[in-house]
Amino acid sequence: MTIHIGAKPEDIAETVLLPGDPYRAKWAAETFLEDVKLVNEVRGMLGFTGTWKGNPVTIHGSGMGMPSLSIYVNELIKDYGAKTLIRIGSCGGMQKKVDVRDVILAMTATSLNTPSSGIFKEINFAPCADYDLLRAAADAAAQKGTKTHVGGIYSSDVFYDERPDLNEQMVRHGILGVEMEAAELYNLAARHNCRALAVLTVSDHLLTGDALPSDQRERSFGDMVEIALEAAFA
Ligand code: HPA
Repeated sequence: MTIHIGAKPEDIAETVLLPGDPYRAKWAAETFLEDVKLVNEVRGMLGFTGTWKGNPVTIHGSGMGMPSLSIYVNELIKDYGAKTLIRIGSCGGMQKKVDVRDVILAMTATSLNTPSSGIFKEINFAPCADYDLLRAAADAAAQKGTKTHVGGIYSSDVFYDERPDLNEQMVRHGILGVEMEAAELYNLAARHNCRALAVLTVSDHLLTGDALPSDQRERSFGDMVEIALEAAFA
């Protein structure tokens, strides 16, 4: 048990999938895992552990934004021994070639700041995904026929952004999509010698204004969960 996670030490698997939304953790665990057990509900941040094809997996909410993710990922790694951490979340598309429903595999995550900025000081650290996970996820997505993009994303600190010039620079430099968590997940994985990846479904589009209708969200998010699980155990 830690400050924010009520699970027993043996209740968290080495492989953890991290949706932002605790209810998406519940849905993903109940839909894709067997022998599912609720292992955390402190502050309503739900975590579940079960098995996928016989492999132990925890699916735990990260909350929204890097400070929240940092709390859970620090405790999952340092107190519970998590080794492979895969964010499964949504993002806003930032390139014309990216459509809603597409999957983005985040090779790198650009940011203005992360909770690790205080440690890095003058270092402009480049947070990047684990290559084996990235390659396995790309293979799994190709196998499923999911339209997938691999490249850089932007981990922002604000959803209601009032600096359109920043998004313009991201678009200009080929950034595929914007979300709010991956950069710090990659920083923490690098610091603690863990494997990390962010698998993202494009839920809305900053250039076109398109958005995934609510009745199609579940199906699209399901593809992302399967890609993450295939990658984790490839
Ligand atoms: N901004 C930040 N995070 C997001 C967005 C967005 O437009 N869409 C989904 N996650």
